[in-house]
Amino acid sequence: MAIKFIEETKTFKLDTKTSSYIFRVFEGNYLVHYYYGATIPDTEVEELRFRANYASFCPDSPSAMVYNFSPDVTPLEYSTFGAGDFRLSAFAVENAEGNKVTDLRYVSHKIYSGKQPIPGMPSTYVNEDSEADTLEILTEDAVTGVLVTLIYTVFNNHGVITRRVKVENKTDKPFYIDTVHSACIDFPGMDYEMIDLYGRWGKERAVDRYPLHHGIQSIKSKRGSSSHNHNPFTAIVTKGTTEDHGDCYGFNLVYSSNFSIDVEVDGFACTRLVMGINPDGFKWYLEPGEEFHSPEAVMVYTNEGLGEMSRIFHRFYANNLIRGKWKKAKRPLLINNWEGTGMDFDDDKLVSFAKHAKDIGLEMLVMDDGWFGKRDDDKSSLGDWVVAEYKLKGGLSHLIDRVNALGLKFGIWFEPEMISPDSDIYRAHPDWCLHTEGRDKSIARTQYVIDYSRKEVRDYIYGRMHDILSNNNIDYLKWDFNRNLTEVSCSQLPKERQGEVFHRFVLGTYEIMDRLTKDFPDLLIENCSGGGGRFDPGMLYYSPQIWTSDNTDPIERLTIQFGTSMCYPTSTMGAHVSACRRTGYETKMNVALWGSFGYELDPDKLTAEEKAEITAQIELYHRYYDVIHYGDLYRLITPFENEFKVAWQHVSEDKNEALVTVIQIKQAYNQFFMLRLKGLDLQKTYKDTETGKTYSGAYLMNAGLNLTYKPNGDGQSYRIHLLAE
Ligand code: GLA
Repeated sequence: MAIKFIEETKTFKLDTKTSSYIFRVFEGNYLVHYYYGATIPDTEVEELRFRANYASFCPDSPSAMVYNFSPDVTPLEYSTFGAGDFRLSAFAVENAEGNKVTDLRYVSHKIYSGKQPIPGMPSTYVNEDSEADTLEILTEDAVTGVLVTLIYTVFNNHGVITRRVKVENKTDKPFYIDTVHSACIDFPGMDYEMIDLYGRWGKERAVDRYPLHHGIQSIKSKRGSSSHNHNPFTAIVTKGTTEDHGDCYGFNLVYSSNFSIDVEVDGFACTRLVMGINPDGFKWYLEPGEEFHSPEAVMVYTNEGLGEMSRIFHRFYANNLIRGKWKKAKRPLLINNWEGTGMDFDDDKLVSFAKHAKDIGLEMLVMDDGWFGKRDDDKSSLGDWVVAEYKLKGGLSHLIDRVNALGLKFGIWFEPEMISPDSDIYRAHPDWCLHTEGRDKSIARTQYVIDYSRKEVRDYIYGRMHDILSNNNIDYLKWDFNRNLTEVSCSQLPKERQGEVFHRFVLGTYEIMDRLTKDFPDLLIENCSGGGGRFDPGMLYYSPQIWTSDNTDPIERLTIQFGTSMCYPTSTMGAHVSACRRTGYETKMNVALWGSFGYELDPDKLTAEEKAEITAQIELYHRYYDVIHYGDLYRLITPFENEFKVAWQHVSEDKNEALVTVIQIKQAYNQFFMLRLKGLDLQKTYKDTETGKTYSGAYLMNAGLNLTYKPNGDGQSYRIHLLAE
């Protein structure tokens, strides 16, 4: 078992193959955190001590009158508000008496193999029960009877621990859940740096890194989505940590709405992290007999640097988050018409697109926005999911038949959570959008957000989608989400439940996505939110790939893809070659190959030479598909450290194949350049498939390749493909 309970000391020890996580039931039934880091032996667990920086003004707990103990300075496993711990609270309720004092103590626990799903929510899963063990600890607030179960799952072979909580009301009075975080971790000391992913539309997930300071540092969303602006990921690393060395604690939340990750350094120079649903805008009314489930937090620890932390996330998500047919099946090579035509298309234009696409070797045509209602620009028709026959003459099936007859599959775009004020559906149901009585409705991209907390509205939208998908031969669906939530309230809910609408909205989205994946198990779903505005593990549970950014400029894409790779696997990052002006097609391809590859341009406009070049690219795409999609990623030179060039490498699991890509961002004339490779087998001999030259793994990793004379002009790039002999 990866989870042990040591009776004598009432200690829980959770072991992955590389880490130990230890906490104890202390005097007064407090759950006290002792250790998270590289594996330590069971025999030395007793040596562990929690911090004891007791000082005047730290309140004592009458139920744990032990020398130097105060909840204020103790690393608590799941901190609460108002009972002696003044640092970040992981949990607080407003009880029936109207106060928020909450104090959870250990009651009992159980350990079992395997892992349970979270009702109505995405989460990581086990393929076999033997992959993971789960620990459930029941805690209680003795005064109010509030019950909270802390749930830990240890994926022994992955170096991953997941955490979440369940809140139950078995009393006879309702209470409000005010704050409910999924995880709380105390770190000894403050000598850490925090890494997060920040950005905006068109510039998602750049890497920020800064030393922790006293007080609170946080990343959050209150946009009703995980957002372009911050991603629900952070790493806490020891100072000086590099791609290959150093302690890294990676945290990611399986959630697609308002989140917060707060890190507090207290006056004693100790650190606490809490992560979960953003308490801002959240208040859940729990009636007797009801329960509430938090989203799941994924925790990765490694002492082998950021590169290994990312690879642990990648392997774990590829095996234990991504589901369905497309987890393993090769994905069709697509062309999307959005950047080529916008909404200015008709059936003949798309068929011509398809003909050219087929000629150059593509496999699927995706018809993007503009095929429904009266949609010629972004000002109308969202919600009217009826085919625009004035554009697609003869209807959708007829168009798909023509595309299929050319030998291409067909994909379609939807934006199921949105409604245009200029739509038949809005005219019939003006109250179906999120709004607050008496207030203006904020409008973004000329659209409102549908109130997905309402079941009848969800059922209607899903009914329309179901009709279209079941009556047409559709292989792929792009699910878009092009604005954030404002005026979040719901006239159908009583006033005590208005704080639930953000969360109910995302539960509604998850419900529709769940129905979609069950009713159409072969459908390949790609998520999107104005590019990568909802690139999170919650979405990856329903769709194996997400459009990484609307920005398809290959140089701009570098920071976006490097940042995204912090925790999301290559196979999940939608990346397309487009007609944008910067760099030639070679570099566009090299960048887009690092992802779920495709094209996003008008093939009618390509010259004969460009078509030939793209056909050659497609052959390379097939040749490298496995090593890129299923291999391990090594970030060799990142754009956050080097303004001139970047390099990355994919290595197959058996270390028999490697693909290295180098992009010269700007010219560095005559600069000496040795590149040491990573992740190869020191004992093997590798052949460069282009030059035929052979090298030992030891040479490639220790001495490295001299690439000084490779192309090094602005925006130039090249690959080195190695096969073990
Ligand atoms: C968003 C997406 C684009 C495209 C448009 C269509 O911006 O990110 O890829 O689908 O919507 O309106």
